[in-house]
Amino acid sequence: PRKLTICEAISHLQVGTKIKVQGWVRSVRPQKENLFLHVNDGSSLQSLQVVASSELNHRLLTFGSAVEISGSLVTSPSRKQEVELQADQIDVVGECNPVDFPFKIKKKHGLEYIRQFPHLRCRTNAFSSLLRIRSEATAAIQQYFKEKGFIQVHTPVLTSNDCEGAGELFQVEPAGQEKNQDEEGHQHFFSVPAYLTVSGQLHLEVMAGAFPGVYTFGPTFRAENSQSRRHLAEFYMVEAEISFTQSLEDLMKVMEDLFRSTTEHLLDQCPEDVALYHKHVSPGYRDNVDLMMKKSFNVITYTEAINILNSSSKKFAFKTDWGCDLQTEHEKYLVKHCGDFPLFVTDYPYALKPFYARDNQDQPLHTAAAVDLLVPGVGEMCGGSLREDRLDLLKTRLAQAGLDEAYGWYLDLRRFGSVPHGGFGMGFERYLQCVLGVDNIKDVIPFPRYSRSCLL
Ligand code: 4AD
Ligand code: MG
Repeated sequence: PRKLTICEAISHLQVGTKIKVQGWVRSVRPQKENLFLHVNDGSSLQSLQVVASSELNHRLLTFGSAVEISGSLVTSPSRKQEVELQADQIDVVGECNPVDFPFKIKKKHGLEYIRQFPHLRCRTNAFSSLLRIRSEATAAIQQYFKEKGFIQVHTPVLTSNDCEGAGELFQVEPAGQEKNQDEEGHQHFFSVPAYLTVSGQLHLEVMAGAFPGVYTFGPTFRAENSQSRRHLAEFYMVEAEISFTQSLEDLMKVMEDLFRSTTEHLLDQCPEDVALYHKHVSPGYRDNVDLMMKKSFNVITYTEAINILNSSSKKFAFKTDWGCDLQTEHEKYLVKHCGDFPLFVTDYPYALKPFYARDNQDQPLHTAAAVDLLVPGVGEMCGGSLREDRLDLLKTRLAQAGLDEAYGWYLDLRRFGSVPHGGFGMGFERYLQCVLGVDNIKDVIPFPRYSRSCLL
């Protein structure tokens, strides 16, 4: 018999042939003469119905057990599925004690419950769907940038820079104190303090000096002391840097296009998996996604955002004076206020932004050419800016921050064939939350890391 994945088996193309499938039992229904099974192997949300004579039943054939089954693929007499497998042989490859197994047959487990079992939750439909969606979204993002002529850069995970300057760095040294001092008395393994990257932006800016557009897509790390539903200590970020651009509109267009083309790919390539989320996790959410695919995202300035917050009757926990950073509560309010729909906020106070942000040189308000994309349910999904390309202004700013020595190489980028450029980062998990309507970021990453939790 030919070995097929369940996805291939249910595609109907091999009806009438002898096949073999391997997978995990999702249901067992023994009847008088026949035994009915559903087997899933992660290749599809759907399981394959297996019909066997009762003689093939086995005490180890339980919910969750791993099986290998051969038989004939036939058209199913029932309307519930198009094909089924008439089993000749069933082997239990790995048994599963249903009493100890944390997931129970026919029971709907919530995302919060299954989150307690990071090593087992991929055996549930919801998490299996999530993993297929993540994988497809990753492919879609790569495809988007490839089509637009961007070059993918593998930016380092270990770095000596603190791109965001927010002090949320994980420092990296060899394990064991004694190793932190070598024979020459160097304190650090790399001679300088090294960190897990918070952003690949500065490395992308290097490459933006030689390519029309570059991007990177990898893990980033922040020592956020937060237990929030939108923060992780390790998350994936898509970052792009575009050369020869002088407008935030260019950046916003790429963010919006990236969102739409990735989402379109998901709706097209894994409709059932996405539908599971839109039906069971966040009922009715599909309409929101459809609207996001059609209607242009809203755009307001930071100053307009502050005016909206200050004219609202809602009491906020954090200050909303001009110059204060927008907090999650503000971001969520603004998104709601603007039709519960994605919203770009542009031109933030210069003082709030890291050294690289381009000075708008406006008076009396002093702003930077920076933009955030806020989305329903999540708040900030993307952050980006034009970069300061004027050598004198950049020098002054770095000097004021006491960073001029460390960033000599960064100043060089402005000395040798510098071009106006800009870029942004999109939090991949926040993107998934936004498209699937998932409330907690821990439910859209295989192995969540956050303060006081680094399981597995
Ligand atoms: O706004 P951030 O800090 O921007 C940067 O790091 C820029 N250097 C990116 C660039 O211009 N190349 O982070 C970008 C995005 C945020 O908008 C958010 O979606 C996500 O990364 N993000 C997080 N996601 C999960 N957990 C966290 N702790 C996150 N911190 C940021
Ligand atoms: Mg940000």
